[in-house]
Amino acid sequence: MTDNFSGDTKTHFDPAQPPEQHDAPAIVPRIVLPKDEIPPPRTLVDDASDWVPAVKPIDIKRYTSPEFHQAEIEKMWSRTWQFGVWSGDIPNAGDIYVYRNVGQSVIIVRQRDGSVKAFRNSCLHRGRELCTEKTHQEQLRCPYHAFTWSLEGDLKWIPAQWDFPQIDRAGFSLPEVRVEEWNGFFFINMDKNAPSLHSYLGKMVDQWKDWDWSDRYRSVTVERKLNCNWKAAMDAFIETLHVYSSHPEAALLTPDTATQYDMYPDEPHFSRFHSIVGWASANLSPEPSQQEVLDSYTSVYLPEMFGTPEGDLSEGESAREALRRIAVQVYRDRMGLDVSQMPNSELLDGTEYLIFPHFLIWPSTSNPLVYRFRPGETPDSCLWETSLYLKYEGEQPAPGPIVKLDVGEPMRDIPELGYVGPILQQDCDNLEFIQNGMKASGTGVLEVARYQEARIRHYHETIDRYLAN
Ligand code: FES
Ligand SMILES: [Fe+2]
Repeated sequence: MTDNFSGDTKTHFDPAQPPEQHDAPAIVPRIVLPKDEIPPPRTLVDDASDWVPAVKPIDIKRYTSPEFHQAEIEKMWSRTWQFGVWSGDIPNAGDIYVYRNVGQSVIIVRQRDGSVKAFRNSCLHRGRELCTEKTHQEQLRCPYHAFTWSLEGDLKWIPAQWDFPQIDRAGFSLPEVRVEEWNGFFFINMDKNAPSLHSYLGKMVDQWKDWDWSDRYRSVTVERKLNCNWKAAMDAFIETLHVYSSHPEAALLTPDTATQYDMYPDEPHFSRFHSIVGWASANLSPEPSQQEVLDSYTSVYLPEMFGTPEGDLSEGESAREALRRIAVQVYRDRMGLDVSQMPNSELLDGTEYLIFPHFLIWPSTSNPLVYRFRPGETPDSCLWETSLYLKYEGEQPAPGPIVKLDVGEPMRDIPELGYVGPILQQDCDNLEFIQNGMKASGTGVLEVARYQEARIRHYHETIDRYLAN
């Protein structure tokens, strides 16, 4: 991995004379995936969707108004399934994770029988948070006056019990919060009457049958504060339209115009994209050669291969075929993993799911990313977390570090993020300036693309469903 971001598109992109674009290009994954030698997960082909929510502008107040922020807290966050913690971060009985969001605080506790319970993180005595950070405890003892509960939430001990005649011990258990698991991730829901997590996720559970995350571990998490609304941050990661301008070194390789977006009218809680790698952007003119597409990868990510016979196309080889050949070799040599039977959709491309409201997960091996977004105290700030979940063989490695960064602190220098860090820095370079820009708007609305930004409209419609009831 390298931070050498020297790749550029200048021979194919003249900002003074961008190419005219009138006709929608083909949805590339629908052409490429069925032809791949090793078939992709069936869902990527079978569940391709033509449906997008109706085109309409998005009111900027949804990102900037304190009233809308408050409505989200009261009607949406209070009733949706929120990603709490990955199973591997609380592997042993007594492992506890503290999840805070929009003024709520919850502890997620591994039980002695291996199950997981969640409780409101509030002492029933005088309200102190029982735990303040990720920890391990044999029982839940409040640090203030030492009221103590078992890991199961049953009251165990009261100091000066004679002085609390009003407390019925049997009824003084910690109030529970709904917690359910999908794919090794525990989600919490503050609404006791919410549907189960799996019915909330709908058809997505079935779509994931071909992806196995039992051989993944969390190698790093970066928590980065941002001075923008949580939705503005999330929007930057659910479309590839911005790749052309914001990640220009990638435009030859994983372009804006080679992405399929799928959402369904009866599935409000998830959407997805699949982005092809090794297929130059249709926005580039003249069309790059296949060798240039390959070079755009090796020059940035594998400079030791750039310009060598290994980094050159062999007779009749396409860039996508060469990228596969190189990826199989790199996985074998650097990680000891045999990925020769892995489909290109996993090895090269990027698939990403959004689980409403705030969780993004990339099932593909190539980009093992998970994002979570949480609002700040006002609509103008948020906390954005990026995690990598890497494949492993043999014994599961211990989870990696959690790095905390403030507004303005660079993403590019986190060694565990590898090549992802400089890319995320490019995203930050937009996000630092979006809230002020939105507030300066002369129209009061965002105009989003019919197809490529349809996922933004889709989740906004889901927010409206919650706000309407
Ligand atoms: S506030 Fe927890 S023991 Fe008093
Ligand atoms: Fe980006």
